[in-house]
Amino acid sequence: MAKRDFGEISDTCKWELPDYEPWFPVSEKSNPLTRDIDKASPNHIVRLLAACDAQMFQKETGTTYQRLFSDSVVQTMLEVARTVEQILRDPEDSLVVLSGCGTSGRLAFLTASCFNRALRDRQQNTVYSYIIAGGDRSLLTSQEASEDDPKLGMLTLEKLCEGKRHVLFIGISCGLSAPFVAGQLDFCLKHPDIYTPVLVGFNPVTQAREETMPGYSLTFREVVQRMEEQRGQRAFIINPAVGPEAISGSSRMKGGSATKIILETVLAAAHTAAFTNTHVTRRVLLDMMRGYERVYSVTYSHSDQIATLLQTAGLSLQCGGRVCYLSWGSLGLVGLIDASECIPTFGADYEDIRGFISGGYQDVDNIEGALTSLGSQFCIAHEDFVSLVLPTLSDRDTVLLLYTCHDDVGDVEKMAHRVRKKTSNLHSLYHGLQGDTTADIIGLLCSSVLNITWPSSTVHMQWELSSKLVLNAVSTGSHILKGKIYRNHMVDLQVTNSKLYHRAIHILQMLSGVSLTQCEEALLKAIYNVEQLTEDITTAGVTTHTLTASRRNRVVPLALVCLLIGCSLSEAESRLESHPVVRDAVEACLTSSQHLTSSPGDQTSTNH
Ligand code: F6P
Repeated sequence: MAKRDFGEISDTCKWELPDYEPWFPVSEKSNPLTRDIDKASPNHIVRLLAACDAQMFQKETGTTYQRLFSDSVVQTMLEVARTVEQILRDPEDSLVVLSGCGTSGRLAFLTASCFNRALRDRQQNTVYSYIIAGGDRSLLTSQEASEDDPKLGMLTLEKLCEGKRHVLFIGISCGLSAPFVAGQLDFCLKHPDIYTPVLVGFNPVTQAREETMPGYSLTFREVVQRMEEQRGQRAFIINPAVGPEAISGSSRMKGGSATKIILETVLAAAHTAAFTNTHVTRRVLLDMMRGYERVYSVTYSHSDQIATLLQTAGLSLQCGGRVCYLSWGSLGLVGLIDASECIPTFGADYEDIRGFISGGYQDVDNIEGALTSLGSQFCIAHEDFVSLVLPTLSDRDTVLLLYTCHDDVGDVEKMAHRVRKKTSNLHSLYHGLQGDTTADIIGLLCSSVLNITWPSSTVHMQWELSSKLVLNAVSTGSHILKGKIYRNHMVDLQVTNSKLYHRAIHILQMLSGVSLTQCEEALLKAIYNVEQLTEDITTAGVTTHTLTASRRNRVVPLALVCLLIGCSLSEAESRLESHPVVRDAVEACLTSSQHLTSSPGDQTSTNH
């Protein structure tokens, strides 16, 4: 035991060493803690996820990386909170815009909605708005291509802010990488009389993306450098390192959680100051962040119950069943977000893990309103669950109820009875206060119960974070059990934007040990479904490649099999057909290739 703990401690810090995967920014590195997560038991998976999440709260250890609690980070948060405080005191013609792509955009939406609600509760005018690349449909589905468009980002921001006198723009890009956000930050820098840009992300500025963006003269790094020149006056960068993700590059996990912690801390502190006629202080910010650290500890103190949920969800996915989150209140948004992320992250079908929220779009309160006409995937109300899913529900499916003591528990109970008639595979995640027994009756209907009890000072946003940690563990863990992950890499990723295109090439390189050029060629052959690359293909841009890839399945596994076996695409297709589980396919190829003896996965990317 002592030996294993020692191993985990050193693995916790290894990613900080300068020679650990130096070609990757922190957000894309593989986490040394989770390199065997694909073979771990449900209990062990949860322990590993807990260890990864703990890295968010680790104190600064040296000079390499600033962390969440570092003075420099807290100082910048303080300055941004004071700017928000001023806007709240004088909101006329002012706006706070939160923007991002994928999960970052979803958190922008969640945060803007939450703080507008707080203002409405005080009979104040709302000052927050959000932008998500691809529009509101990206709240529920993956629209990865718009992430690559800096001009679209800029134009969307300009349109939203028409007629405003002062705009605080908060651009979120966990990897300091999304061109959509870079375009917006650059636009703000060019109009300092109106716009104050804030960048939230989790890489040092020296690791911001260097790749050129289509139709744009600047790289993300150059935009960040320009922000640095104005830092502390007209531009702010909040970028603590939180360590590599448990599944490499999956920034929906720690990146998303840390984004939520930072934004809510800054905005909640500004609200408290503005409405109590005080000023934001470092102490207030630190206390709030420590509150989130306690949320982390309390949540993972229920690791056994989380592991049970993860296991049952994994069994459902393994046998072609579904996992449904049925939520009430704002936990519903957390459920919708977690479920929607499984589509791009694991190449999942939207029915594999699906979220439903009690009041549907009325509860979501998004700018574009109800999106149900876009198709069944956008049907998110409990009544949609009742008409679309309930009739065919069986014991193969897992249903998870998510609710709190502030929700209509009678309604939860009614739904629990309806589900129970179709399946015994019913579970619940409940947030309550000390001494309350509200959930007892519903608990009797469930085959597993995760009741988290909180002190009365706990705020709803903390329950959201707690739910996010649980759901991230359930959806990630169940896909691990389904065999979607090899080591700690999502091999079957969708290559739908330039970041994912380059990530795919690096995964191929790491697993095959051949050069990046050969990997890119193999990937292109798989994308275009050709045995030989034509000049048309090799001269086309990444945008064309990713557009084509979005219409194809399993391009990365196909390319990998070709590289490992040295076979044609058609042979790779038939090998993959005989191994529908991606991890098994990779292992079978590694075993039958000579690469195994030289352990390609352990090679470093010397071909960079
Ligand atoms: O495009 C894929 C993706 O990695 C999403 O999963 C993620 O949420 C989004 O990009 C945004 O990433 P970032 O916050 O680093 O800009």
